Amino acid sequence: MIVAKDIQQRLMALGYAAGKIVQTGQTAVAAVKTRKFDLVLMDIRLQGSMDGIEATRAIQKFSSIPIVYLTAYADQKTLRRAKLTEPFGYILKPIDDAALHTTIEIALYKATMYEQLRQSERRFREIFESVNDIIVFIDMNGVIRDVNRKVKDLFGYSPQEILGKQFTKLPLFHGKQLLQVVKHFNNMIAGTSKADLIELEVCTKQGKTVIIEANTTYIRNHDGRDGFLNIIRDITEKKMVDRELVQEQKRSRELTKKIISSQEEERLFLASEIHDELLQGLVAILYFLQKLELSKLDEPTRARNKQLVEMIKSSIQHGRALISDIEPLRNSHIGLIPAIKNVISQRYSLLGTKVELKCSCAVPELEQFAKVNIIRIIQEALLNAQKHAESDAIIVKIHIQKNVLNVDVVDDGIGFHTAVYLSLRNTEHHGLLTMQERAKLIGGTLTIKSKPNEGTIVKATFPLESIKKT
Ligand SMILES: Nc1ncnc2c1ncn2[C@@H]1O[C@H](COP(=O)(O)OP(=O)(O)OP(=O)(O)O)[C@@H](O)[C@H]1O
Ligand SMILES: [Mg+2]
Repeated sequence: MIVAKDIQQRLMALGYAAGKIVQTGQTAVAAVKTRKFDLVLMDIRLQGSMDGIEATRAIQKFSSIPIVYLTAYADQKTLRRAKLTEPFGYILKPIDDAALHTTIEIALYKATMYEQLRQSERRFREIFESVNDIIVFIDMNGVIRDVNRKVKDLFGYSPQEILGKQFTKLPLFHGKQLLQVVKHFNNMIAGTSKADLIELEVCTKQGKTVIIEANTTYIRNHDGRDGFLNIIRDITEKKMVDRELVQEQKRSRELTKKIISSQEEERLFLASEIHDELLQGLVAILYFLQKLELSKLDEPTRARNKQLVEMIKSSIQHGRALISDIEPLRNSHIGLIPAIKNVISQRYSLLGTKVELKCSCAVPELEQFAKVNIIRIIQEALLNAQKHAESDAIIVKIHIQKNVLNVDVVDDGIGFHTAVYLSLRNTEHHGLLTMQERAKLIGGTLTIKSKPNEGTIVKATFPLESIKKT
């Protein structure tokens, strides 16, 4: 008591408030509970059953108040016991003012720091727990070190159920998916992974399959706490919608394909009928009329004959024009290049524009459907160049590179703003969109490069494997 009073005097002289002196462990615990104090100076040897180290342990259960030991005992065993309670300081008797002052100041300073740290930890924990994604930290041995409560909502497991466990041992992943995750982590370590995003199917505790997207960061602390921070999001619904959309697109593409196929068939049928029946008939009649012995006819009949011959000639010409677009495809055995040559000569005979064909390769035999579409694309591109471009130099280039057939239709005409026509659907202009649609239908792509006054290039590419006859 005398020593305690002496210390109290000295503390007051150093500028601290008087404080309270208690004599047993139990009363010390009770005093801390009143929350009136900033620091405890704890003697190790106390009256009663509880010594200073036990009292410290009891206080630490409910309070983070800094505790500094005061003692004359410095034997190893006591020190070891005291150390385990992580005291903020340790002052040996006899006590000098300087030691008392510095130890108390450092203890108070440390206590403030710890408090700040605890607060910021609490703040981070709140954020960690309140985000809408699962956040999980997995160490280098694959052990789950931290995870937020969101994991329960999505996977059905509480954090307690999975913390400290190897993620590979959880029944979350099917075999292939698990390999994928391990590979993903390995790639991140090796620095070979470009994407830190991975998409996986996960089986929840309830046996439901959910699709997740994990964004992984490989964290290198160099203090043995390296690992992978994963932010996991449920994308099942989005994925389902995407899949449905893809299915829908596929269905719609199939339908367009069918429509185009039957359109082509119909056109070919009509063209053949016109060519083989109608035109042949007209040609026969023309032949007959021309062979008539005109001298034996009277003047009005001769004039009538002449008129009829002209009419039939014009009808034949009209009929030929009608089927000219179909003509290059009437023969299904014709190769792509001869078919293109036909198209070009037809265009020349109809519109009088010269078109140059540049082809430096042998094109393999193509599926009829692919060939029809490529020809139609070229026909439309040529017609556009003739109708709109006001150009005299049109070139069709065909070449094969790395198993891809490239078809370019180039003109040096007036050009146009492509974006305008490609964004306007449902207008009376269908050519460009139909070309693109046709290219897509046979597994290719089609782009149009044009600017006012800079000519136009229609560029189509078709992987040979999707258009080649099998
Ligand atoms: N080679 C070109 N040079 C200049 N303008 C072009 C060229 N190709 C297309 N255009 C412009 O783009 C527009 C859209 O072309 P698109 O082929 O889609 O329709 P269209 O030719 O007007 O009608 P259609 O539906 O009969 O093809 C054209 O009206 C024209 O203004
Ligand atoms: Mg057009």
